[in-house]
Amino acid sequence: MSRIAYVNGSFVPLEEARVSVLDRGFLFADGIYEVSAVLGSRLIDNEAHLARLQRSVGEIELPLPETLARIKEIQKELIARNSVIEGLVYIQVTRGAAERDFVFPKGVKPTLVMFTMVKDIVNSAAAKNGIAVKTLPDIRWARRDIKSVALLAQVLAKQAAAEAGCQEAWMIEDGAITEGASSSAFILTQDDVLVTRQNSSAILPGCTRKAVMALAEELQLRIEERPFTVAEALASKEVFITSASSFVQPVVTLDGQTIASGKPGPVSLRLREIYVEFARATAD
Ligand code: PDD
Repeated sequence: MSRIAYVNGSFVPLEEARVSVLDRGFLFADGIYEVSAVLGSRLIDNEAHLARLQRSVGEIELPLPETLARIKEIQKELIARNSVIEGLVYIQVTRGAAERDFVFPKGVKPTLVMFTMVKDIVNSAAAKNGIAVKTLPDIRWARRDIKSVALLAQVLAKQAAAEAGCQEAWMIEDGAITEGASSSAFILTQDDVLVTRQNSSAILPGCTRKAVMALAEELQLRIEERPFTVAEALASKEVFITSASSFVQPVVTLDGQTIASGKPGPVSLRLREIYVEFARATAD
């Protein structure tokens, strides 16, 4: 059975799903995306992802072609049509197809594409064993708070990380880590302070980051939102990343150097466990 995608009002087999070569997403990366997780065929923390979608499109003056309520219905229909139990729903909105011109086209309907992916998020080997991370210079544009489809810097960073046998790249700017190529970055210091960079235009405001921080507060962990260095990360008790596609994933090596025992730490594993509980309890 073929996977079903959604393209501009129609549900179609993935191999028949098409947009124009003049689509501005293709020509200019003039578009926004979102990724929500699915557990037990239900959407995880989806309101936060849809709110961020709305904010991102607003920041680039791109009107959504459907309401958020309709987008949610489409997400659910895709989960049902594709029988997704665990995985991801991807949403992409672009400024539509028009003759190639940098200036916004007039009277063109934005493109809306959505599809699902099956993925084991809860029982992943990476979560059990921890991942290796490579650091690279952050060469992205200055508005990383917008979830833009212009992901070339992240593609290159992830490729360099993969070639070094790593599963994620951390990007460095002015001596501090901004965030992962597709995740938020956390450390737990020797004094048991959870540190993650504060939201600003330098990073994407992670939905999982926000939920995990709220759960960490419930565990009475001290939290500091500030930049941190690679040296600090290497000297810390624990390191982990968060994202919709990985939840909470322990990091066990950074640039080939082992962090603490080289095993996933208890706080990272506990936060992962309570995030999964929160996800299941609030799934929609
Ligand atoms: N990436 N930072 C960046 C640069 C990201 O691309 C992502 C998500 C995050 C984590 O955000 P959230 O917790 O809301 O997923 C942080 C998605 C999963 C992706 O590109 O596939």
